[in-house]
Amino acid sequence: MEATEPEGTAVAERLLTSSLRTSYDPVVEIDWDAPHTPGAYWLPPHRSSLYGTPLWSRLSEEQRVELTKHEVASAASAGLWFETILMQMLIRQYYDDDPTSRHAQYALTEVADECRHSIMFGRLIEATGCPVYRASPVDHWLGRFLKATASGPRMYAAILIAEEILDAFQREIMADESLQPLIRMVSRIHVVEEARHVRFARDELVRQVAAAGPVGMAYARLLIGRAAYTIANRLVHPDAYAAVGIAPQVGRAAARANPHWRATLRWSAARVHDHLADAGLVAGPGRLLWARAGLI
Ligand SMILES: [Fe+2]
Ligand SMILES: [Fe+2]
Repeated sequence: MEATEPEGTAVAERLLTSSLRTSYDPVVEIDWDAPHTPGAYWLPPHRSSLYGTPLWSRLSEEQRVELTKHEVASAASAGLWFETILMQMLIRQYYDDDPTSRHAQYALTEVADECRHSIMFGRLIEATGCPVYRASPVDHWLGRFLKATASGPRMYAAILIAEEILDAFQREIMADESLQPLIRMVSRIHVVEEARHVRFARDELVRQVAAAGPVGMAYARLLIGRAAYTIANRLVHPDAYAAVGIAPQVGRAAARANPHWRATLRWSAARVHDHLADAGLVAGPGRLLWARAGLI
């Protein structure tokens, strides 16, 4: 390679090669009609938002399994919502990029991955028989604002937060043989392809931080805190509790006060928090939002 190649080329080259080697079409790879395994959880029970609470102890084993299924459907709903936002942000950046560059071509490859992922999450929700758990009107609007305007460090940091928090759960799920085969397979495909996205976003973020001025960084820290807050709050939609006879606001309040769930949130965000904090992107008022969300 020439010394004059644009920054990010070497990483993009590597990621394009890896995409050729390991990419999956979930419509083909997954047997969507396979019967579910009776009695198998959809999440490790200790990752349920109500695990260890008095509400949990009152649920039957069957209801506990049912709750984890709805929690998975809620996370999948959030996942495809983030992916829609992310695809638009990447396309907006591509609009200004050089289409002959490996960097631009990898961005498009990532969009192609996310198109398949969103179809996969849609099929997963359908297969569970759960509803699509949509974002609140305020978050829906904030997402619209973010996907239409975000660039620079705040764009890549928001991508990393969403991808790495889901990734923490999915890595655990794919390794746990006691769980439903369907969610393990979905998680495995997502983890493999997301590892490339995380690599790309981390590489971009270094350059975006270097290019951002103090005002841009201050705005980025605030927006990143708000994104982290939304993501943590959206993982389990309160309506998921209604599926096991718990009033949504009662379930949500119990989850928020649940030390197990708070530990799970911190565990899921630890890697991305440390990475963004090292980059100077978690501080000031934005940091309070991370704390309020229970992520630190
Ligand atoms: Fe994805
Ligand atoms: Fe991704």
